[in-house]
Amino acid sequence: MIKPLVAGNWKMHGNTATASNLAAQLAEQWGDNLAVEMVLFPPFVHLSAVKAAVANTVIAVGAQNISQHSSGAYTGEISGAMLVDQGCDFVLVGHSERRELFSESNQTVAEKFKAAQDVGLTPILCVGESLQQRQQEQTLDVVAAQIAAVIDCVGLNNVCRAVIAYEPVWAIGTGEVASPEQAQQVHSAIRAQLGEAGVETRLLYGGSVKASSAAELFTQQDINGGLVGGASLEAQEFLNIVKLAE
Ligand code: 13P
Repeated sequence: MIKPLVAGNWKMHGNTATASNLAAQLAEQWGDNLAVEMVLFPPFVHLSAVKAAVANTVIAVGAQNISQHSSGAYTGEISGAMLVDQGCDFVLVGHSERRELFSESNQTVAEKFKAAQDVGLTPILCVGESLQQRQQEQTLDVVAAQIAAVIDCVGLNNVCRAVIAYEPVWAIGTGEVASPEQAQQVHSAIRAQLGEAGVETRLLYGGSVKASSAAELFTQQDINGGLVGGASLEAQEFLNIVKLAE
């Protein structure tokens, strides 16, 4: 039995007060619930406030990005050790916004994945195809290549003890959610790629998840939770999604 995980990616929104407030509301309503693992991904500068708001609860905190380097002259970067020091247990790697807007290659993503595991963080590896790639029927190849690059760098077993989030780029922030069948098709291909070592790996779906679409997605065989953007910024909506993963 795989324990479901629902993560909220807050992206570049809010301020210290709104971040603490949102985390405090979630802590009050989900702080001792072990049925679904909840992980919050605030901006770096709100990590410590969010960590304080969820102290003494089961809610975990993660960062949205990590440097592939462990320390040194990398102005503006944040290392894995710094994230651990802030109380993080998770980190997103390879989000499509990082890949597209900040030119992160499969190789860079693999190095970041390794940097995360080297300090004991659990990476959530984000993969997914663009609209054009889907229209050209390249979806499964693109996703397989994104995962293969990380397997090449850290080995299959290390990929299998992380979390993988399938986020079709055309569904992110667009209100257009993948159908449960579309999502399951990709999730089952990922499961097959991981083979025997990946039977317990948590595979999340992300891309315009709302409470109204989550129920059907979460009942698919290889979908073990969600990575939620916009809808995670509102406590009640996010809690409704988390409850649907139970
Ligand atoms: P939305 O839920 O806003 O589409 O964002 C998804 C996402 O990018 C989560 O990482």
